[in-house]
Amino acid sequence: MRLSRSGRAALWFVAIFSALATAGVLALYDNVSTRKHEAATSIVRLAPIDETTIDPKEWGKTFPRQYDSYSRTVDIERTKYGGSENVQKLDDDPLLRTIFAGYAFSIDYREERGHAYMLSDQRETERVTKKKQPGACLHCHASNVVAYREAGLAAGAPGKLTDALLSKDGITQLMTGFEKVCAIPYDEATKLVSHPVSCLDCHDPESMAVRITKPGFLNGIRALARSDDPVPHLPSIERWRQGSKAADYDPNVDASRQEMRSMVCGQCHVEYYFKGDGKLVTFPWHNGLKVEQMERYYDEVGFADWTHAKSGAKVLKAQHPEFELWSQGIHARSGVSCADCHMPYKREGAQKFSDHHVNSPLLHVARSCQTCHPYSDEEVVSRVTTIQERTKKLLDAAERATVDLIDALEKAKAAGRTDTELAAAFDLQRKAQWRTDFVAAENSMGFHAPQEAARILGEAIDYARQGQIAVLALGTN
Ligand code: HEC
Ligand code: HEC
Ligand code: HEC
Ligand code: HEC
Ligand code: HEC
Repeated sequence: MRLSRSGRAALWFVAIFSALATAGVLALYDNVSTRKHEAATSIVRLAPIDETTIDPKEWGKTFPRQYDSYSRTVDIERTKYGGSENVQKLDDDPLLRTIFAGYAFSIDYREERGHAYMLSDQRETERVTKKKQPGACLHCHASNVVAYREAGLAAGAPGKLTDALLSKDGITQLMTGFEKVCAIPYDEATKLVSHPVSCLDCHDPESMAVRITKPGFLNGIRALARSDDPVPHLPSIERWRQGSKAADYDPNVDASRQEMRSMVCGQCHVEYYFKGDGKLVTFPWHNGLKVEQMERYYDEVGFADWTHAKSGAKVLKAQHPEFELWSQGIHARSGVSCADCHMPYKREGAQKFSDHHVNSPLLHVARSCQTCHPYSDEEVVSRVTTIQERTKKLLDAAERATVDLIDALEKAKAAGRTDTELAAAFDLQRKAQWRTDFVAAENSMGFHAPQEAARILGEAIDYARQGQIAVLALGTN
């Protein structure tokens, strides 16, 4: 085909125009990427912030978008299995009163809500007002970096409060103070803090890089690195294991930025216990992150949270193991972090920033999920609720089985069976109850790792029914 003269002229015009347009776009891109680089290296500070700036308002003067979204964690919105209305779980699910009989969780146990409430909810729960608790509780419920460091300095740690936290002296102050504050009574300890988790707890005031400041996590992840549990979702730990291991694993030095986007949440959203008389907050990761590996640790150190009031078994309470369950799921394995779903990017005009309104991703699937899964809102939400409904059915079955075992044990005791005769069944209650509670206390109703949640509940039902058979075999009922 031959083009007419005017056709050829038009083609030239298009060619020259698009070359110019491309050059223009490239020049603009160059400009934008340089500016981006400048923004990252030189933050224009509208108010001074340093290692002593606890008040998030001060940080907000320089970072208004992050501060504004952080402030929205007061919002209350409910989803089918999550959300932020602090309903009493014990009324929604009365079996829990039997499962936790004799423990503080049988008097007050609520659905969790936004970060803004973490300190006031802790001060007000009947688990604190009706029972004695240690300062250790504050590890995950307050901005405590400064309180720990001040307590450390008072106890003779070197340096001063304005030293960089991640310097040698800064860390010594933090760890020394942490040990002091864990051990004192809650009423005294809570006077040392004034804010829920704040900017300072997650960010270096100098570089704004995300950092790990909670001593329980620093100790816990170090122990995990020394275990032989494969952690393909945390490649920096796998790399550290192949090295000399002379220095301990340190997330602030070794972890990638993407890993930090989950580890920063793993400082609090994890299983823990208070070790020894010092009540030291400890994550039971010495054998690995899986449910049976943590159980093995508790068995090895001979730990029980309480003695069950109805059965007499020495049992465990699971606490929000989000980091651990996420670790067993396909998203972790694919490199998807907590922040990807719970702090997705948000756009305001030309500005893109991380949404600090940490909440249920089901309230904004467009930003949290559709970046990777190109389905409609309804379809994405329905994929989640399908997983959650299936998990809930299995969870109900596991709770019923656990309660049946507790009833059987209670009757056997009333009929005069001794603790020695019931020892095997006690152990099966401990196993069943730990697994049931592990999924119940985890806050995604199975979503963070659906198959793992189902495996755990399957085992729970099996252990509970084995326990019932063991009691029946004694011939009491
Ligand atoms: C792939 C996305 C995704 C990732 C990654 C993810 N979550 Fe979630 N998370 C969800 C969804 C979906 C729910 C269910 C929300 C609901 O039921 O309203 C949830 C629920 C939760 C809840 C309860 C929220 C509520 O409203 O009750 C917490 C807490 C939580 N996740 C913490 C974490 C932590 C900590 C991590 C990382 C260790 C993490 N999540 C990783 C998607 C994710
Ligand atoms: C290792 C971190 C950590 C420690 C230590 C900790 N918490 Fe929490 N706490 C959390 C997280 C994460 C949540 C939100 C998830 C949930 O409720 O499952 C929470 C939720 C709560 C809630 C609101 C929901 C509820 O359970 O009623 C209360 C109250 C609470 N904690 C009290 C305490 C008390 C009392 C202690 C000390 C005995 C304590 N916490 C120690 C991390 C921790
Ligand atoms: C200092 C400890 C701490 C850190 C760090 C932390 N959380 Fe929380 N988180 C809590 C506590 C405590 C609560 C419950 C507060 C309450 O119920 O009063 C909570 C509540 C939540 C909720 C429930 C919000 C709602 O609206 O129901 C989600 C979701 C959540 N956290 C996710 C995350 C993610 C994702 C990260 C990391 C970016 C993170 N958290 C970091 C302690 C922490
Ligand atoms: C629970 C931990 C946590 C708290 C508390 C927190 N941040 Fe962040 N912040 C993050 C994470 C995670 C990112 C994403 C970092 C990344 O991708 O490297 C982030 C990113 C940022 C960034 C980089 C730009 C962006 O939006 O991605 C700024 C600036 C920032 N936060 C400011 C603040 C300020 C100001 C506060 C207090 C009002 C605050 N943050 C509180 C965890 C936190
Ligand atoms: C950064 C990308 C990314 C984000 C964000 C993300 N996902 Fe995924 N999701 C994946 C990948 C990768 C897989 C694994 C399947 C694959 O490799 O294609 C997956 C798998 C799933 C599966 C199958 C789960 C299973 O165990 O088989 C569901 C359901 C899912 N995602 C839902 C969600 C929801 C809901 C959100 C938002 C809360 C979300 N995803 C956010 C990348 C992502």
